[in-house]
Amino acid sequence: MARRMQACIPCHGREGRATAEGYFPRIAGKPAGYLFNQLVHFRDGRRVNAAMGYLVQHLSDDYLREIAEWFSRQELPYPPPAAVRGDAALLARGERLVREGDPARRLPACAACHGEALTGVQPAMPGLLGLPPDYIAAQIGAWRSKQRRAAGPDCMAEVALRMTGEDVAAAAAWLSAQPVPSGGRAAAVPAAPLPLRCGSLP
Ligand code: HEC
Ligand code: HEC
Repeated sequence: MARRMQACIPCHGREGRATAEGYFPRIAGKPAGYLFNQLVHFRDGRRVNAAMGYLVQHLSDDYLREIAEWFSRQELPYPPPAAVRGDAALLARGERLVREGDPARRLPACAACHGEALTGVQPAMPGLLGLPPDYIAAQIGAWRSKQRRAAGPDCMAEVALRMTGEDVAAAAAWLSAQPVPSGGRAAAVPAAPLPLRCGSLP
């Protein structure tokens, strides 16, 4: 598998560790169920990226599951966070949205789903740390414009639609400036019931 996955390195970095270049998400160490869902989404057109779609277009569910499990087992250190982008007010707003949401606008806290430590939850909830700010903002934008979809009910689409452009910029700026706690592994179980139902979770 390591040899076959050489094809992923130019973009995702060695063994799925994101390269320093702006946009590529890291894949190493993410929950296997999450990685599998994404590979299926690229193959079946629920997520659009030319290179990713091309790479997985003819692969079976079984093979995609093997790829997901292999990358999920890769334990590699995270690089230090990117330089902070944005002023103190923007970062404070970002932190508040991530940790508390905005009840007045029915915007749930990101941490309520992505884990208190923001490193995700097994088996299919991704973490939000260690991602480039442009990637975070682009993914939320893709949900808003229906370029990215997950299994229904698509809770992340609902969250994205409740966010303003400034919310997105604030959350992306704060999240990408946080160091990843040691190992960055996803929590084993959610701490509390999720604020919305998510069809992508078992
Ligand atoms: C030409 C560059 C390129 C190559 C080669 C490539 N990827 Fe990707 N990959 C991307 C980009 C760009 C994205 C983000 C796409 C988006 O915006 O949705 C991505 C996203 C992903 C994601 C989703 C990550 C997440 O956090 O949601 C997975 C999983 C993934 N790639 C797996 C792979 C695997 C496995 C390989 C090798 C078989 C591979 N990629 C090869 C560019 C590449
Ligand atoms: C109700 C639960 C829920 C809440 C609240 C939530 N998310 Fe999500 N989010 C999800 C799920 C589920 C996914 C994975 C969807 C999939 O499988 O494609 C996701 C995926 C993401 C991704 C894509 C990660 C990647 O690697 O591509 C980003 C970015 C994201 N969420 C940001 C946020 C931010 C920022 C907030 C807070 C403003 C937030 N989420 C709140 C459920 C939630």
